[in-house]
Amino acid sequence: MTPLLTVEGVHKIYPSGTHALRGVSLAVRPGTVHGLIGANGAGKSTLIKIISGVEPPSSGGLSWKGEPAAWTDPLGALAAGLAAVHQHTPLVGSMSVLDNVFLGRRETIKWDAPARRRELQALCERIGYDLEPDQPVGDLSVGARQMVAILQSLARDPSLVLLDEPTAALSPPERDILFRSVRRLRELGVTFIYVSHFLDEILDLTDHLTVLRDGQVVVDEETRVTTEQQLVSAIVGDRLARVEENAPTSDGPPGEPLLTVQNLSSPGKFGPVSFTVRAGEVVGLAGLLGSGRTELLEAVFGADPVASGTVLIGGRTLRGRSPRRAVRAGLALVPEDRSRQGLLRDWEIWRNISLPYLRSLSWRSLVPNRERERRLAVKAVTDLRIVAGTTEMSVGELSGGNAQKVVFAKWLYGPATVFLLDEPSAGVDIGAKADIVGLIRSLAAAGKAVLMVSSEFEELRGACDRIVVIRRGQIVAQRLAAATDLHELTALASGL
Ligand SMILES: Nc1ncnc2c1ncn2[C@@H]1O[C@H](COP(=O)(O)OP(=O)(O)OP(=O)(O)O)[C@@H](O)[C@H]1O
Ligand SMILES: [Mg+2]
Repeated sequence: MTPLLTVEGVHKIYPSGTHALRGVSLAVRPGTVHGLIGANGAGKSTLIKIISGVEPPSSGGLSWKGEPAAWTDPLGALAAGLAAVHQHTPLVGSMSVLDNVFLGRRETIKWDAPARRRELQALCERIGYDLEPDQPVGDLSVGARQMVAILQSLARDPSLVLLDEPTAALSPPERDILFRSVRRLRELGVTFIYVSHFLDEILDLTDHLTVLRDGQVVVDEETRVTTEQQLVSAIVGDRLARVEENAPTSDGPPGEPLLTVQNLSSPGKFGPVSFTVRAGEVVGLAGLLGSGRTELLEAVFGADPVASGTVLIGGRTLRGRSPRRAVRAGLALVPEDRSRQGLLRDWEIWRNISLPYLRSLSWRSLVPNRERERRLAVKAVTDLRIVAGTTEMSVGELSGGNAQKVVFAKWLYGPATVFLLDEPSAGVDIGAKADIVGLIRSLAAAGKAVLMVSSEFEELRGACDRIVVIRRGQIVAQRLAAATDLHELTALASGL
């Protein structure tokens, strides 16, 4: 059978000199799900961008249905029948769900509102996911925005859909919705290229898979003849693959409460909720999309002006609601949405990392101390294994997972005593996930308090001492991490 798409000897050298792809070839058969995996910085997103016309290859080429591919830009690719959902999806925050889904469509449907509504409704039904058509996309959670982006690609009726880490922000039930729709569409003859760091997803969903390492293909096989172990060593190469240990409960009794939340609520979002996190403790917040998990972290951090209730840091009430005061009182927030809140893309890595600490790193707080800033960045790059040529690289040139680690590093080395972490390892590869869990545990071991949100309930079990389950803005259960399992957490979070 003629492949739908072939990639032939593609090289990509970015203007900065990074040789991101080194002679990549692969063939995608029609009606299959083709998995693309590899460590952070392996070249997955670069390949997706070349296939979808966002970036030109430096050499090599593509064929489409047996002929040399004719497109040179994303619109041309779309016209040929390729739709891509990129890792950082550009949606227009001020526009509604409806307008975003049909954005960039030239046909008459763009002007025919009732027809668009009907089509959105039909799409939602087809994948089994509900969205409010008139809601501004900027108000949606990262996960719901991801679903809008997927609908946007499907609205083009493509024959090949490229999904770059679509599940990084989705929790188990939402993942199931996505998987079901991918399977259903495959039966209808749609072909997928699917990028993910979750090996269980890849083994479960794909027919064929390609592993990239340092810009080269190291495995290209039918999924059914590969094993998880084989994939792990193909992905990490000679980098040591650390086995994930389970629930590391801290030694000794937990310390004083460092974070106390009393009757905190925000109208229409969550609450009232009350809980404490003690020194040396990692508490997980398990909840689905829209449960209020992110909103709760933001309110604790003082970023929700209409929230009411009391937040105490180390026994002292946090007065006034502003992130600045929160930082001064010892709080740090690692946000979920790195593209919106976390990073300055045009700035160098070292400048991004030292941004929150300019004061403490500066001589008498006036003159920034470049030397100390750079040393801190070098330490962060080593500790977190950020794959970058040098700390002088701008963050915009990093792969998605490595950018996420920079967000984390921004807060890690400061004077904070209470850490609020929203999806700290989203988009991070299997090797680095273990590193991040290790860093979280070391914060606790140093007597800090950590409150973290993760869509991966298994990860919460591995990183936390205690897990608080939140559903529809209310705390519905609390469990010791060692005394619960994925099944129970999923049931509690979804109210089954
Ligand atoms: N715009 C760019 N300019 C310069 N270098 C870039 C650019 N985008 C990516 N790179 C570099 O190319 C290499 C491959 O990056 P890519 O984003 O393709 O990785 P990835 O496999 O998608 O990783 P992740 O799992 O972290 O998303 C990395 O070394 C990265 O720093
Ligand atoms: Mg990527």
